[in-house]
Amino acid sequence: MSGILERLAMLAADYQDPVREVPWAAADPALPWLPDSLVSLNTLPVWQDMDKSVRLAASRIDFARLCAAGLWLEGLLILRVTHQGFVAQAAAETRVVLQEVREEAGHGLMFLEMIDRAGMGGVRLLGPTWLLHAVAKRLDPEGAAFWAMVFIGESVTDSFALKALRAAETDGQDICPTATAVMRLHHRDEARHMAAAKAMIDLKLARTGPLRRLGFRIVVRMLIERFLHATLYPTEVSLRALGVTDAAGMAKAVRNCPKRRALASSCAEAAMQLIDNRMTGTSGQPQPG
Ligand SMILES: [Fe+2]
Ligand SMILES: [Fe+2]
Repeated sequence: MSGILERLAMLAADYQDPVREVPWAAADPALPWLPDSLVSLNTLPVWQDMDKSVRLAASRIDFARLCAAGLWLEGLLILRVTHQGFVAQAAAETRVVLQEVREEAGHGLMFLEMIDRAGMGGVRLLGPTWLLHAVAKRLDPEGAAFWAMVFIGESVTDSFALKALRAAETDGQDICPTATAVMRLHHRDEARHMAAAKAMIDLKLARTGPLRRLGFRIVVRMLIERFLHATLYPTEVSLRALGVTDAAGMAKAVRNCPKRRALASSCAEAAMQLIDNRMTGTSGQPQPG
């Protein structure tokens, strides 16, 4: 298993700072940051009556929400993995974790810049996170459950970004090149992070009994729902920033919209599959995937 971690460490050895790589000067204020099909308000009939400028602003706010979700998750990861220091851990594991800390800090700086550029600095963009935050703060990075939660956070947000990149191509809609680059650069690193999270889960599952796995699986399936709610639906505050008068009504309408719910669920598919696959296994042996 440490062979996988060693390979991942080699791939990440040459650090590339995303803040320096993003083409900030290519930002085009006339272009949306997400394809229309991924914007949360697009699922409501009112979308048809919205001005182009409001649609653009809605896409920026949803993009900023994705960035806020990334910032939150990255902060939590850094907090937990650095909590006890790295003294007693295996070198390959420590190297991969430190590389992730380095890359997540770079992502956070890139996301912060995008949130500022969207005019959303200081605006509450995420739904309720207190329960998820409390659970994540209690999980020990020495256990499989911690890395399963890491995988969930990374795969849901990455899956949404990949859908946006694909839709931009298939829908033929021009998207701001700066926003596209942010999603691509983030995916480049997250693909490795998710592979590392899987390797960590398999490494630590050997020490997790079948009953604990089953209990964790039940809890996680509930938490995923909360995670989707917190990160893929507009908050009332963000809708007010858009100029929506009935922000509470519109937020509720998006939350209840079957089309948006289906999109959110599809972003959690990889995480659900991983949890089912790993947590229902009866041994600690790594499984394919
Ligand atoms: Fe990240
Ligand atoms: Fe990551």
